[in-house]
Formats: sequence, C-alpha cells, structure tokens
Amino acid sequence: MAEDLTIVKGSKKEQYEMLFPQIKALLEGEPDLIANLANIAAALKEQFNFHWVGFYIVRGNELVLGPFQGPVACTRIKLGKGVCGTAWEQNSIQVVPDVNQFPGHIACSSLSKSEIVLPLSNLTVVWGVLDIDSSEYASFDDEDVIQLKRIVSLITFEQ
Ligand code: SME
Repeated sequence: MAEDLTIVKGSKKEQYEMLFPQIKALLEGEPDLIANLANIAAALKEQFNFHWVGFYIVRGNELVLGPFQGPVACTRIKLGKGVCGTAWEQNSIQVVPDVNQFPGHIACSSLSKSEIVLPLSNLTVVWGVLDIDSSEYASFDDEDVIQLKRIVSLITFEQ
C-alpha cells in the first residue's frame, strides 16, 4: 500500500466513500492495533481536516489517550464522564451538535464546538472510543454515524 492518501473534494458521502477503501488497504495485513488506530486518525484528519481526531483506550476504570491527530488532549477520562465516558458507559454513539450544551463535556480545547464519539466494542465489551471534534457547530450527522461505523468495523482488537 502506497503511503499517500488520495484526498478528494465533494459531498461528505463522496469523501467518506473515497476514504473507506484506502483505510481498508492501510489496515490490511497489519495486526498491530496502535499502528492501525494511528493511521485511521491520520487518514480522517487529512481528508476532513477535523480539529481533533483520536482514540481513547479502556485501561481499568478509565479511558486513556491513544493515537490521535490534533492539539494535545486530556489523557484520562473516567467512566461516564464527558462525551467519551458517556459513549463508553452506555455503549452508544454520541453526536453532540454543541458541546456547550452537553452536561459534563470535557473541554480539552476551547476551539471544539461539536463532537462525535463512537464506542469500539468487542461483542458487548467496550475497549475504546473514537472521538472527533470539530471547530464548527453541528458538523456531524447521520452520514458520519453510518460512515464512521463502517470505518471502525475494520478494526480488530483481540484481548
Ligand atoms: N471532549 C471529550 C474529551 C476528549 S477531547 O475532546 C479530545 C469529552 O467530553 O469526552
């Protein structure tokens, strides 16, 4: 796999559809979780120029910062805290159009205005989350949910 990503313009759907096979190719044959999370974060950041894209990984009773692209971020988040801790606790995708309206939102960066968090689970056990922050309000919708679910389904995690 060539290491250059082909970046496209177009609708959100078109951008994700161009990106998906490239992420799939990047992950193919690579069993290392950290390497794969790092490339997914980089690919999403490069295509969409989100403010922050990254992963938190469950370690005991906390989420700990994993591979990411963007400004420095909070390193530890407790179960049920913030958008990430809520996605983990509820094993449900969180789409937050205005982070200021989310009770307990953890502001790692004052520039973040909207956010989407997808839990990553191994059957029923959540082992991490994908967190994306935008510097604009209401950046994320059903299309992101569908497309990001597809992308995270490519990640294999064996404990
Ligand atoms: N805003 C997140 C914390 C992580 S940072 O956005 C990178 C939250 O409320 O869980």
